[in-house]
Amino acid sequence: MVVAAAPVIIGGEQTVCVTGAGGFIASWLVKLLLEKGYTVKGTVRNPDDPKNDHLRAMEGAAERLVLCKADLLDYDALLEAIRGCHGVFHTASPVTDDPEQMVEPAVRGTRNVINAAAEAGTVRRVVFTSSIGAVTMNPNRGPEVVVDESCWSDLEFCKNTKNWYCYGKTVAEQSAWEVAREKGVELAVVNPVLVMGPLLQPQVNASAAHILKYLDGSARRFANAVQGYVDVRDVAAAHLRVFEAAAAAGKRFICAERVLHREDVVRTLAKLFPEYPVPNKCSDEVNPRKKPYNFSNQALRQLGVEFRPVSQSLYETAKSLQEKGHLPVRPDQDY
Ligand SMILES: NC(=O)c1ccc[n+]([C@@H]2O[C@H](COP(=O)([O-])OP(=O)(O)OC[C@H]3O[C@@H](n4cnc5c(N)ncnc54)[C@H](OP(=O)(O)O)[C@@H]3O)[C@@H](O)[C@H]2O)c1
Repeated sequence: MVVAAAPVIIGGEQTVCVTGAGGFIASWLVKLLLEKGYTVKGTVRNPDDPKNDHLRAMEGAAERLVLCKADLLDYDALLEAIRGCHGVFHTASPVTDDPEQMVEPAVRGTRNVINAAAEAGTVRRVVFTSSIGAVTMNPNRGPEVVVDESCWSDLEFCKNTKNWYCYGKTVAEQSAWEVAREKGVELAVVNPVLVMGPLLQPQVNASAAHILKYLDGSARRFANAVQGYVDVRDVAAAHLRVFEAAAAAGKRFICAERVLHREDVVRTLAKLFPEYPVPNKCSDEVNPRKKPYNFSNQALRQLGVEFRPVSQSLYETAKSLQEKGHLPVRPDQDY
């Protein structure tokens, strides 16, 4: 008997669910999916909230976007949204270090989404938006190690340092793999570093706030810290690629363009926007300057994902914050 290979499913007649559709990353993903011809069922907690109007204004939304009301802790509402879908992008999550607000919705919500995908019976693959926070928080990793998809954060370390966001994302990703295995759901995971770039949604999300604070005067100093950065449009493209590529099943994908010390971020911002009070002093004048870790984004590059340079992304983040009215436009000044 000849068994035909499973077809690779791209756009066309496909319906996919995006959880937390109004969020920063999800909004770009919904836009991209609509452009590619997908029909999208986007979950939001309140479809009538004007903060979701940007979704309805997207090209193709009138014909191919349905907003479904669903909290991550409401299994029946999630199942209703996922029913009939060929794929699920699970991006919704609290983004906070408050343990009570973070851990349960992140973990139980993820289990709910994967269980609902199994029960729906039509879902070919779930793509889960995890985080670099589920990868790098490990004090025992040597400086020579190249951070790749085999690395996992240490839960005890996250707990002891009260990094509840990383703790929640790590447990949520572990739960995703566990439930997917138990229920026979095909899973692929994207692990983005800090995401920046233009905003589609009206409100400032946590990672855009990370950049805004260096421009609006609210951060007087920068931390002695390093962080990975990536553009939101590349993160959306990575999600779609990981959904469509047959070879992505069962794998994690680190989504990062570059790792920078905070000093490099503020220097770039100061050069691009000399009119803003960008800090030029580090809050830590005692310890040696932290060194960026080595990382690999080969897995996504092999799938054909390309990354915009961080400097372009920083520029467009600031411009977008101006356009949305979060950052007053100032005339250029000579300092
Ligand atoms: N931005 C980054 O730098 C970054 C980096 C790595 C990973 N990630 C991950 O990427 C995903 C999206 O992040 P983002 O930056 O786009 O954040 P965001 O703009 O804050 O969006 C988060 C979304 O999750 C939804 N949500 C939160 N709690 C919920 C709950 N209990 N039930 C239903 N929906 C809930 C929010 O819905 P409401 O609109 O109803 O509040 C919102 O739409 C998250 O999983 C995050 O952990 C983000």
